[in-house]
Amino acid sequence: MKLWNKKVAGATVLTLSMLLAACSGDDEATDTGGDTGGDTGGDSGGEEEQVTITYAAGVDVTGATEALIAAFEEQNPNINVEYREMPADTGASHDQYVTMFSSQSAEVDVFDADVIWPAEFAQGQYALELDRYIEADGIDMEQYFPGTVASGNFNGRQYAMPKFTDAGLLYYRTDIVSEDQVPTTWDELFEAAGTLQGEGGTEFGYLMQANQYEGMITNAIEFIASHGGQVVDENNEVVVNSPETIAGIQKMIDFVNSDFVPSNILSFQETETNNAWVGGQAVFARNWPYMQSTSNDEEASEVAGNVGFAVLPAGEGGTNAATLGGWMSMINRYSEHPDEAWEFVKFMTGEEGQKISAVEGGRAPTIAALYEDSEVQDAAALFANEQFVETLQNAVPRPVSPIYPRISDIMQVQLSQALAGEITAEEAAANMEAEIMAAMEE
Ligand code: GLC
Repeated sequence: MKLWNKKVAGATVLTLSMLLAACSGDDEATDTGGDTGGDTGGDSGGEEEQVTITYAAGVDVTGATEALIAAFEEQNPNINVEYREMPADTGASHDQYVTMFSSQSAEVDVFDADVIWPAEFAQGQYALELDRYIEADGIDMEQYFPGTVASGNFNGRQYAMPKFTDAGLLYYRTDIVSEDQVPTTWDELFEAAGTLQGEGGTEFGYLMQANQYEGMITNAIEFIASHGGQVVDENNEVVVNSPETIAGIQKMIDFVNSDFVPSNILSFQETETNNAWVGGQAVFARNWPYMQSTSNDEEASEVAGNVGFAVLPAGEGGTNAATLGGWMSMINRYSEHPDEAWEFVKFMTGEEGQKISAVEGGRAPTIAALYEDSEVQDAAALFANEQFVETLQNAVPRPVSPIYPRISDIMQVQLSQALAGEITAEEAAANMEAEIMAAMEE
């Protein structure tokens, strides 16, 4: 069993100007000036036409999105990027995109897509195939972690470029828990959260995501997989009704109903977790890598310098498991500016863009080489940690299917009822099995 803990170093946040200064071609970009006020003016024959593209992405509390747009615009004076903020809840964003794209709307050109969407969006013909752009620009897809490329591939074609990757992590307060006390099993965590709750001004022992939404599924998969269970296997067989899966669900029920989580844990998403965490309210928390960045924001966080992270605990007789998350960049099939849209996608998902996301936003790169980059390593202790990189590569994917949203909805309903004590873990597993099988047969 592996345990790795690492204190998150004091935030080293590179300013945007430092980043920009570091990239060559700086002067070329700046001399055309920030004065291209939108008039497409035809007077200077060779000037490229000014194009505005709309980029939709979820609420970003880290500031990385603005930094990405600014850096791109600086280098591409003829392209303006308008940012449309989407809901933080991935499911809510998903539904808005489906409404937009199924009516063939061109209002959004580029959008960030959760790793669970590309199969569905490709099949629904919402997304532009990117292979011809990838080939024309000679993008080496082998520089990316293979799992992240696979998430964007459907029937052999690439519909999405990997932007950053996610895996669930256990955060802990280093001023309350010493490195050798960090729990390695769910039972140890249960015990430690109960005992340490209240120390160091905290109110809660543990924070997690238990609201009825996609994030709850990512938490559930960690409980299930760490007990040796699965939902759908490699052969697309529904295997959710197993003793291992039931043990995982039961452990999740125990945590949600403990007295060391907030009494309103059933309404907790990542945002609530992050807010309570940076407010110094908890000893342990489960969240994605970005919370290392918000944790160490000296202005907004009360726990800066006191935050460590470790792999999530193992189940009884099981292993550690982190759910694979992450975001891709895609282009709306009906975009009126596909070439400019591609330029922006290429920038965000290329080395330079991913470095901005990592340094400014604590987002884990999908390009393996960036973990060797000293600025990336200096920005966040997590990225300099080899075991974290291993965790990312071994993270457990959610079922890859064009009907994934259906599968997720079924699980969400059953798990919510189980967490609320309305049905047992056994009943939840049996119901999921029957309903997922029926959905797959349709
Ligand atoms: C994160 C993950 C994403 C997941 C979501 C759930 O954004 O990157 O894959 O679906 O959290 O809330």
